[in-house]
Amino acid sequence: MPRITVNVDGTDYTDDVEPRTLLVQHLRERLGKVGTVVGCDTSNCGACTVHMDGHSVKSCSVLAVQADGHDITTIEGLARDGELHPMQQAFHDNHALQCGFCTPGMIMQSLDLLAETPDPDDQQVREGLEGNLCRCTGYQNIVRAVRDAAQRMQPGAGPPMEHTDDTPRQRTGEQQAEVTRP
Ligand code: FES
Ligand code: FES
Repeated sequence: MPRITVNVDGTDYTDDVEPRTLLVQHLRERLGKVGTVVGCDTSNCGACTVHMDGHSVKSCSVLAVQADGHDITTIEGLARDGELHPMQQAFHDNHALQCGFCTPGMIMQSLDLLAETPDPDDQQVREGLEGNLCRCTGYQNIVRAVRDAAQRMQPGAGPPMEHTDDTPRQRTGEQQAEVTRP
């Protein structure tokens, strides 16, 4: 069996793996990184998205052996010192998740999008996330969250993700209408 060393969320892991093992299987079943989830196994849903050397990949379409010597970041590697990453906080503040199953992949893909396009418009967000499926939200609040995160992540934007008393905790009627709009 091939022996691989992969840096995952800042830690090196060396393991013997079957050549056919998928990266997502390795992350979840060997390394316990269960924040990365499997929604389809056919490269369609994007739920398994992680970063490899800073770029998003669908970890169900990468073999573990292909990750040998590479840096992988999962959703579990984003928070720092107990503080959510600005993108995670923006998803929370904008009610951009319901069941949450798509959320790890959405967040990882959204970060890749912002690395390329730091201040995207709605259409650019939708196109950037076209490989990630959500069965719950209707996408509107996800688009809102990504654009919110983009502003919070601008250079000089100050401490990210202050949660103020006026931050909406409940979805408004208007937002609900957008969520359910076909
Ligand atoms: S589980 Fe990888 S794209 Fe769906
Ligand atoms: S929040 Fe349920 S699939 Fe997206």
